[in-house]
Amino acid sequence: MRDLLSTEGLDRATLESLLDDGEEFAEVLRRPIPKVPALRGKTVATMFFEPSTRTRLSFERAARALSADTLSFAPGTSSLKKGESLKDTVLTIQAMGADLMVVRHTSTGAPWRVAEWTHLPVINGGDGAHQHPTQALLDALTLRQRFGSLDGLRIGIVGDIRHSRVARSDVFAFSTLGAEVTLVAPPTLLPPDLTGWPVEVARELDDVLTELDAIYLLRVQSERGGASVFPSVQEYRQRFGMTRQRLARLKPDTAVLHPGPMIRGVEIDHEVADDARCLVLNQVANGVAVRMAALFQLLGGERDE
Ligand code: NCD
Repeated sequence: MRDLLSTEGLDRATLESLLDDGEEFAEVLRRPIPKVPALRGKTVATMFFEPSTRTRLSFERAARALSADTLSFAPGTSSLKKGESLKDTVLTIQAMGADLMVVRHTSTGAPWRVAEWTHLPVINGGDGAHQHPTQALLDALTLRQRFGSLDGLRIGIVGDIRHSRVARSDVFAFSTLGAEVTLVAPPTLLPPDLTGWPVEVARELDDVLTELDAIYLLRVQSERGGASVFPSVQEYRQRFGMTRQRLARLKPDTAVLHPGPMIRGVEIDHEVADDARCLVLNQVANGVAVRMAALFQLLGGERDE
């Protein structure tokens, strides 16, 4: 693998090897000194042209836990403000000695453009409403730890799927790993064309609630037009929110996941976010581990038994 841009087209063996390495690195992160020398001397550049808390911090934490250095680019205070192009920015960071670029951008396809301009490996940290592959890896690892395997798991992805890069990445990763994915949304919140998506569709959360092993909630992507397709936040909560009442109806071992940032009171109630069945913080912790795996594999790190 040269780059990690999308989960679509990744085969099962590749996904599993990233998850297996992620599992090993999760063990490293639980040690008293959570650090290995695997990527000593390497430099990971994080180039986030769109806001982020979890993804950026966890890539930086992952790089340091592998003893790599980080170069962090913040568009708000950079020469982009003076009109420098994305391409010149990329070539500049490459000339400074970066070994890998993590790119997040509001435009679909931007990380692919970056990969054409640079000879360095590129990881997509989220492009527009398109893909977010390391999110899918951390979600898959969280489900695998919780259930042993994704084979045969019934996973519902709920809400604003149309504008969600997380949903796009998760659908392909989960189904390649053997899960049965149901998208739970009305047509207005679904992509206009689902040809080639390995999914079933349900219109109402209440129709499938008690059949699911895992419920994956999404934030309404207001910045991508998500809030304009339903009348009010209350209506969204009523139909697609994981409320306290719905939590009470779940099978006792159903897991609830969310990529963060959670908007409590909209797609998830406080009581659900703080319930033991909600795995959000496991997801965050696994984010560091799978990003270590991705950096390690793309930079050809040395295994130190
Ligand atoms: C997601 C994103 O940015 O795509 N967040 C994340 O990376 N954990 C989801 C979101 O912003 O709703």
